[in-house]
Amino acid sequence: MKTAGSKPPLSPPRWLLAELTYRCPLQCPYCSNPVDFARHEEELSTEDWKRVLTQAREMGAVQLGFSGGEPLTRRDLEELVAHARRLGYYSNLITSGYGLTEARIAALKEAGLDHIQVSIQAPEKDLSDFLAGTESFEHKKQVARWVKEQGYPMVLCVVIHRHNIEQMEGILEMAIELGADYLELANTQYYGWAHLNRVQLMPTRAQFERAEAIAQSYKEKLKGKMKIYYVIPDFYEDRPKACMNGWGTTFLTIAPDGAALPCHSARELPIDEFPNVRQMSVREIWEESEIFNRFRGFDWMPEPCRSCDEKHKDYGGCRCQAYLLTGDMNATDPVCAKSPNRRLIDQAIAEADSPPEAPLIFRNLRASRQLRGG
Ligand code: FES
Repeated sequence: MKTAGSKPPLSPPRWLLAELTYRCPLQCPYCSNPVDFARHEEELSTEDWKRVLTQAREMGAVQLGFSGGEPLTRRDLEELVAHARRLGYYSNLITSGYGLTEARIAALKEAGLDHIQVSIQAPEKDLSDFLAGTESFEHKKQVARWVKEQGYPMVLCVVIHRHNIEQMEGILEMAIELGADYLELANTQYYGWAHLNRVQLMPTRAQFERAEAIAQSYKEKLKGKMKIYYVIPDFYEDRPKACMNGWGTTFLTIAPDGAALPCHSARELPIDEFPNVRQMSVREIWEESEIFNRFRGFDWMPEPCRSCDEKHKDYGGCRCQAYLLTGDMNATDPVCAKSPNRRLIDQAIAEADSPPEAPLIFRNLRASRQLRGG
């Protein structure tokens, strides 16, 4: 264990998120990828990824997520999974399932993959295909069945927002029909494309409360059969979430081009350059880079966080949310009722009752180039 100045002892990264690519055949408007992903297309090679996996494991990383974009678009996925298995990771594939075949699921199993999480947009074909921007609903359901048949735990993820929140019952029934062992009901977190589309995605408080009550009743009913995780949207809380379990304490994300990020959304912060695994080792990045040290501990905190007796619980909330809402990444997360900027959250909640008319902006390369000049 190392210490960094007056900061608490530094633990190694336990959770490594390998964003293998920003390429994705779907176009979900709630994607958390950065809006300017088109500017970062140059992907790491297989050898680069193997080196990163090895270095992080040597430091103590145990959980590994392969995500993206759509990680299935990488032809070397099986090779990377096999490498992770040799290193002793518990590996998760976080996928839309689009394009996944029975044979590839078997090949991934053979390579040593532990866990597949399949996401479906909605319990009805038309809405699901609309949100995905691609006809994919029936295939995704088939993929979920294959995953189960091949002996993986069936982990289903549905991102919740204004367009599907009224179908909470349908979502839960779909999970039962597919034999899900775990269901993650992930209320949209407003980063990346989801931030761009926030007014069109954010449910009202009444919708949120109704949906939560339905999820809770199924939770009771399905006890021992299906585990349901209901990820609460923190806009409707009065204390912020302990984002990433504290900046630079647990999570390390490596973006497709090798940028090392303390969270999957950090690329949207006004930081000129993130350390990159092409130039630095994972250890150097984690222990010595200025970015990873910037929000560690409590010294960086403004008031009211600095003297708050809950700062050990929430670490000042989320830096990305603070920046996206206030323009200042050092600010107290505005979700906190003690924040001088809480009115921004209250305004967003009020706006959800009568959102302005605006089309959803789907996540794709063309839109990324237009919006951020990629
Ligand atoms: Fe980046 Fe919370 S998502 S710090």
